[in-house]
Amino acid sequence: MRRLKNWDNKTWLSSKSYISQFNKFLKRKSNLNKNSKILDIGCGRANIISALQKKYKFKNKPVGIDIIANNDVKKNIEFKRIDALKYLKRQDKYDLILIKQTIHFFSKTNLNLLLNLAKKRLNTKGKILIFSLKTKNNKIPCFEKMRKNLKKSLKRDEYLFKIIKKNLKKTKNFYFNFNVTISKKRYLWMIKSRYISCLLDLKERDINNGLNEIELKYNNTIKFIDTLKCISFSK
Ligand SMILES: C[S@@+](CC[C@H](N)C(=O)[O-])C[C@H]1O[C@@H](n2cnc3c(N)ncnc32)[C@H](O)[C@@H]1O
Repeated sequence: MRRLKNWDNKTWLSSKSYISQFNKFLKRKSNLNKNSKILDIGCGRANIISALQKKYKFKNKPVGIDIIANNDVKKNIEFKRIDALKYLKRQDKYDLILIKQTIHFFSKTNLNLLLNLAKKRLNTKGKILIFSLKTKNNKIPCFEKMRKNLKKSLKRDEYLFKIIKKNLKKTKNFYFNFNVTISKKRYLWMIKSRYISCLLDLKERDINNGLNEIELKYNNTIKFIDTLKCISFSK
């Protein structure tokens, strides 16, 4: 399967407004201050922790880990190209462990391993915050084959949420909503560059048919709400 590279490549997920609203949400759900130690698992280009570092000037630079090293990963954080399960075997502890839109890459066994290790790496008053697409009534604009794949993947996410709840036990749920306004032209480009996992295994022909479908189905400006479910855990 292709690797996911373009979900935050100049999309709303890397826009100033998204990062700023997301980081305000993080601030409300965790107790961020200058001394906070942060780990972002599956950080991608590290836009989120980079913006946090600019704002809070943490004594310890946030650590971002990912199995892919994009060449434009932000420089003001500590980036490591490493598998999360390997990295978490180290002894460092954190006040915030962020796992955003990454759990779907893990099998049931590996997700349990990830959570067990993450709990061990958490300071007493620390938080694990796990974000994933809302599974019910999701508003992401799709063409037919994409919708079918997305539905399948969201069904699996529901199963993963159950595993997370069973493993972490004391969890709270929240929702993060972002109002997306995007030109159809830009969204077509995002689909072409397979910005979301449910596009990765589609044939070139399916993508091209999908582009035509979106072209016909949507106005020049596309508006929708991107909603993430947030599962919060503290010891
Ligand atoms: C959809 S992206 C989300 C990135 C970022 N958290 C965000 O929300 O903008 C998922 C990321 O998880 C990374 N990833 C997948 N499996 C991983 C693993 N076992 N260890 C570390 N990173 C992983 C992928 O390479 C990808 O960059």
